[in-house]
Amino acid sequence: MFSHEQVSVRRGARSGLPIIIAIHSTALGPAIGGCRLWHYPDWRDGLTDALRLSEAMTLKTATANVPHGGGKTVIALPPGVVLGEPERRDVLRDVGELVESFGGRYATGPDVGTSAEDMNTISLATRRVFCRPESVGGSGDPAPYTAAGVRAAIGAVFRLLGGGDEVRGHRVTLIGLGHVGTQLARMLARDGAKLTVTDVDERRRTLAEELRADWCTPADALTAETDLLVPAALGGQLTTELVPELRCRAIVGPANNQLAEDGVAELLHRRGIPWVPDYLASAGGVIFAVARELRGATPDEALRLVGGIGEVTEELLHNSARLGISPHAAALRKVEQRLATAGDAESAPAIAVRGEFTAPMMS
Ligand code: PHE
Repeated sequence: MFSHEQVSVRRGARSGLPIIIAIHSTALGPAIGGCRLWHYPDWRDGLTDALRLSEAMTLKTATANVPHGGGKTVIALPPGVVLGEPERRDVLRDVGELVESFGGRYATGPDVGTSAEDMNTISLATRRVFCRPESVGGSGDPAPYTAAGVRAAIGAVFRLLGGGDEVRGHRVTLIGLGHVGTQLARMLARDGAKLTVTDVDERRRTLAEELRADWCTPADALTAETDLLVPAALGGQLTTELVPELRCRAIVGPANNQLAEDGVAELLHRRGIPWVPDYLASAGGVIFAVARELRGATPDEALRLVGGIGEVTEELLHNSARLGISPHAAALRKVEQRLATAGDAESAPAIAVRGEFTAPMMS
């Protein structure tokens, strides 16, 4: 079933590259979703990714109580294409123009492959862009806040498992030392977790040494005997075949689209392993950016809102236990209810909570 409101595919006027913007829903408010710059075998694979990722953004905002809908931008780089600085600027300006053409029904932000600096380039063509560098008045790189949100969800899980929300002394296995994974590893080490980390890039071992964490291979990490498994790499790692092999008590992490297929949520539930849906665990970046840039919250206030992911996680795990369904199924119920009682899709006002986005508009 085609459930998206609108999908635009355009060849960038300057770059000649395929740019895809998928708006999944604006039922709860204007759509938000980052801009992914990634290689795909074919641009159609980028389209498939945009459809999936924009739908996940609707789940993210609705579950985390952010009054916005879900969208996503994908720049589909053909295999082997490497962008130099001028080409990068060109394609980002193309993105800005396509974002602007939605007239405020969609705003973008950083995602895999793009940075706060890139958002500044996009802002040359549109104000509908979050997370420009703080030096130019944006809310900056969201990774630390995404990590803080995951940390809050981890606290809720340990409360559920018993023993308070302290990670101290618990075994935590973290897969993926990218932008968010690294920040999270530092937080968990600081809070006294017995940490094992891994990454496909062996050079990241230096971080393990610095944090006095153990190191294992990515494959071993998935089936390690541990209290908590934290997927922080690319998605699709939780497969049907993996579930019987798992030796963790719970799973929470920031990686997008962790389930190889939807049914895995049910399998995990039946095995008694709570899985906090990735779209909730990773909502901290969006929560922070929206609070800062649209609501005028101070950094402290915005960070407190990010901490609210802990309460939402607790509520979700509680509902899951009460209804005897997986946390994912409980979240889907909540989203369906919220969407059903919202106004008509496509009737959402343009993003203008504080008049406009704060990014300057260049004429
Ligand atoms: N990549 C972010 C996410 O998946 C998207 C984003 C972050 C959008 C911050 C706007 C602001 O949540």
